[in-house]
Amino acid sequence: MSDALNVPETAPESAVHRPSVQLPNDSDLVMKVIPMPADCNANGDIFGGWVMAQVDLAGSVLPARYVKGRMATVAVNQFIFKQPVRVGDILSFFATLQRIGRTSVTVQVEVYAERYISQGQYLKVTEASLTYVAIDEQGRPRPIER
Ligand SMILES: CC(C)(COP(=O)(O)OP(=O)(O)OC[C@H]1O[C@@H](n2cnc3c(N)ncnc32)[C@H](O)[C@@H]1OP(=O)(O)O)[C@@H](O)C(=O)NCCC(=O)NCCS
Repeated sequence: MSDALNVPETAPESAVHRPSVQLPNDSDLVMKVIPMPADCNANGDIFGGWVMAQVDLAGSVLPARYVKGRMATVAVNQFIFKQPVRVGDILSFFATLQRIGRTSVTVQVEVYAERYISQGQYLKVTEASLTYVAIDEQGRPRPIER
């Protein structure tokens, strides 16, 4: 089967023209990481659970500035895998604060890939929204100091 550009599924990424997108300029670059072969699924793409773990880590960076102590992820409100992630991609994680509540902080995370063979060109691969809760020593929610 071919995609809309009439490129066979077996074609390398270099044969598929995907225009580079602009990186966000209104959010924080909170993490960069490069997936390795050990992070692959049976298709040879990067395992979605690995991507989710990285997004959970990246998402916690902005909340940590407000929570100032222990916190836990209470919810993944939305998670969209827009494009596959490949071995050797340079992944950039951008985060934006969505809401600071009484005990929780919600952030939007966007992940952009620079393919191994086309660095400097960006492709949005994932976007997600996560909520983190400030917790005390007993693991109960605690108010965030403003
Ligand atoms: C995080 C935890 C302490 C929250 O306890 P809780 O009794 O649900 O807390 P509350 O109902 O008082 O809610 C606390 C905050 O979380 C928010 N929250 C709770 N459930 C939510 C949900 N499903 N989606 C979004 N926000 C949620 C509440 O709105 C509240 O925020 P606010 O005070 O800013 O308005 C508890 O759910 C927990 O320990 N969960 C496990 C956390 C964990 O192990 N995470 C890792 C998973 S691998």
